[in-house]
Amino acid sequence: MSHFDCLIVGAGHAGAQAAILLRQLNYAGSVAIVGAETVMPYERPPLSKDYLAGEKPFERILLRPPAFWGERGIDMALGERVTAVDPIAHSVRTTTGRDIGYGKLIWAGGGAARPLSCPGAGATGLFTVRTHADADGLMALLPDAGRFVVIGGGYIGLEAAAVLAKLGKQVTLVEAQDRLLSRTAGTDISDFYAAEHRAHGVDVRLSAKVEAIETDADGRATGVRLEGGEILPADAVIVGIGIISEVAPLLLAGAAGGDGVDVDAYCRTSLEDVYAVGDCAAHENRFARGQRLRLESVQNANDQARTAVQHILGDPAPYEALPWFWSNQYDLKLQTVGLSIGHDQALVRGDPASRSFSVVYLRDGQVIALDCVNQTRDYVQGRAHILSGAKLDLAQLADPAIPLKEVDLA
Ligand code: APR
Repeated sequence: MSHFDCLIVGAGHAGAQAAILLRQLNYAGSVAIVGAETVMPYERPPLSKDYLAGEKPFERILLRPPAFWGERGIDMALGERVTAVDPIAHSVRTTTGRDIGYGKLIWAGGGAARPLSCPGAGATGLFTVRTHADADGLMALLPDAGRFVVIGGGYIGLEAAAVLAKLGKQVTLVEAQDRLLSRTAGTDISDFYAAEHRAHGVDVRLSAKVEAIETDADGRATGVRLEGGEILPADAVIVGIGIISEVAPLLLAGAAGGDGVDVDAYCRTSLEDVYAVGDCAAHENRFARGQRLRLESVQNANDQARTAVQHILGDPAPYEALPWFWSNQYDLKLQTVGLSIGHDQALVRGDPASRSFSVVYLRDGQVIALDCVNQTRDYVQGRAHILSGAKLDLAQLADPAIPLKEVDLA
């Protein structure tokens, strides 16, 4: 049985970053990554943005040049998935049937695109946008498909819709909630993005429930049937309805968790010598008043990887990183800092019609997050206010003529 001092499961941002950091911080033990995808670690965000648009080749989204991993003594087992963890024996079993022993295990399994669960959901012509292979499948179809239905009005659905609209495709976007981006943003941002997509020709349907995928005799999707009977014809359907975290082997092995695997401030799971980082790690987040949650972001993947690695190296520091996110749609760059969940007030700085504005989210008079649209200055200057927790002058906060860093205390 092969054995590694540190075995990393998952070759996404979090897993790759953990391996990179181990070597950067002079970890002398053996390191391996087991990853289900067959390609070297790459950036995921471009898959629904410039990669999908054909503006960036795959080589340019690789996290490191292919030779990097071998040169650093990082063993790459790609196209292989861990199916079971034996926490007593300190070993994992993979889809190839082999067992691999570990000293420390870093679980960076991420998540799989959540599938639709309605009649016709197994049809061909349905695409998720989670992996490089997903994006390639969709891109191969682009020259021959003119009509798209996008299911889900989160980042993935909206970014894909923007790319398709820019390519001149006919796009209908179906969102189950009564507004876009309801999981991550406030209503001002939702309304702004609905208006932008409509202005770019996207038919945005809110509060729309998918009843079934219509198929032809060959089992190919031909459209989406909504509750009420309306059929939206489509040559292809994109499904962006969230992710399901990949933690089943850990939970089966007895790790605490549910939606994700529970970790402490050092990214330790309840299993000895097993850490979890990235999209699948349910942690108590300081910026959500200690609420346990998972964060699906590059920032969280990188910062939790550092937390776990530092703990392994005997230099522990709790995870307290300020969350940030971004989304590119059309010529709009949305930058988010902090977590707006649970806000009780939202101030709009600037005129959304100018396509450059920010929304400042507050709770109990303290700034907890900002959504900044083409407004990087607010994004940069807003950080300090979230970190300080100070109560600020609300009139100044809402005045775009006053730079955020010059806003007085209340
Ligand atoms: N029909 C229509 N809409 C649905 C349905 C459904 N059956 N089920 C869910 N939705 C909607 C949700 O209301 C939500 O607005 O789909 C949207 C999904 O948004 P997210 O949960 O943000 O997921 P997604 O956009 O798929 O992104 C998944 O990839 O890029 C990352 O940051 C992104 O981490 C996130 C992940």
